[in-house]
Amino acid sequence: MATAHVVGWGKYIPTRVVTNDDLSHMVDTSDEWIRTRTGIAQRRLVADEQSTSDLAVEAAHRALEVAGFRPALVELIIVATVTADMPFPSTACLVQDAIGATHAAAFDLSAGCTGFIYALSVASDMIGAGSYTNALVIGAETLSRFTDWTDRETCVLFGDGAGAVFLQAKDLDGGVLSSVLGSDGSGAELLAVQAGGSKLPASEQTLADRMHFITMRGREVFRFAVGALPRATRDVLEKAHLDLDDVDLVIPHQANQRIIDAAARSLGLPAEKLYSNLEWYGNTSAASIPIALCEAVEQGLIQRDNLVVCVGFGAGLTWGATALRWTVRAPSAPMSRWETLLYSVQYRYASFRSRLLRALRAITAWWTKE
Ligand code: ACO
Repeated sequence: MATAHVVGWGKYIPTRVVTNDDLSHMVDTSDEWIRTRTGIAQRRLVADEQSTSDLAVEAAHRALEVAGFRPALVELIIVATVTADMPFPSTACLVQDAIGATHAAAFDLSAGCTGFIYALSVASDMIGAGSYTNALVIGAETLSRFTDWTDRETCVLFGDGAGAVFLQAKDLDGGVLSSVLGSDGSGAELLAVQAGGSKLPASEQTLADRMHFITMRGREVFRFAVGALPRATRDVLEKAHLDLDDVDLVIPHQANQRIIDAAARSLGLPAEKLYSNLEWYGNTSAASIPIALCEAVEQGLIQRDNLVVCVGFGAGLTWGATALRWTVRAPSAPMSRWETLLYSVQYRYASFRSRLLRALRAITAWWTKE
């Protein structure tokens, strides 16, 4: 039976840097408090004209380029996000159109910061079942658009970004070995955006009450996280008949350095076995694990045959982990000029095709109107 293997990876981090000192001019906080309580030094925020799908498209481009794969042959796109461009259509459909994945099924998946783990598990199961031979799995977020920049307890934590992996079916040992997923909706109110859905549609009152922003009971989420991360890591290894000594690198959700350190202590692993980059990006929710995975590969920390555990927790409450055996080598050289040109032609064609289809629809509507 074929299993899903990661054959491409990519990330996109917006260019606008917001440091802790910048935040200390906006709310009553300090660089010292943020660094010591969270480990975060800065975060990146999207430009005014960018949205979640723009970040996702950039990460998807890079993942396909690393895999050397044509967008038109992608069969499945899953975007894990809690900050979709709109309630509908899905951000995944916008990505499908923008990259020219003309033969792909596309949908969004919402599981808070665990979204990427859920998406990876769903995609690898669909590949394992033989329904698809490849899948683009993206975690993309613009949490800054839902952050209350007057609330010091949340605004210091979050950042924007996107990461993606490209999975392919292969009759090889390794790839995605096991996944565990969990949820506990009794903790739903610990971390939420309360208004803007069917329960509390947008109104002048919800706006006045600032209910379209993230609210969080940080201490309770913290307590949940320090238990969930090691538990999910142990469970996913047990499911794959492996143990902690086999693990080369853990990629935890990047929420708070104290949570990552507590997980390392609980698992009895040295700190360097748990990858961390949250100092530079803050908590990018469903994007944090694929961004971290991508950076770990770029830094040579993940090599062929390594066992990697990706593990997350988040709103819902949700948690989950995936164990995967890395089976590819990172490209030894950047793309040639010829390859760069070839991808650029495909991206331009996708954009041209999208505009043409819209124009044809407008003409048909005009032609057929009574
Ligand atoms: N600057 C200065 N002081 C602050 C700030 C700030 N930015 N934020 C809170 N404080 C104050 C509090 O008001 C409190 O003051 P008090 O003692 O006078 O009441 C004091 O600092 C301590 O507050 P705590 O909440 O106890 O601080 P704690 O050490 O728990 O750290 C934090 C808070 C960083 C939020 C931590 O609880 C945490 O990381 N929780 C987990 C959050 C998380 O992971 N969320 C993402 C989940 S994933 C998803 O799905 C999006």
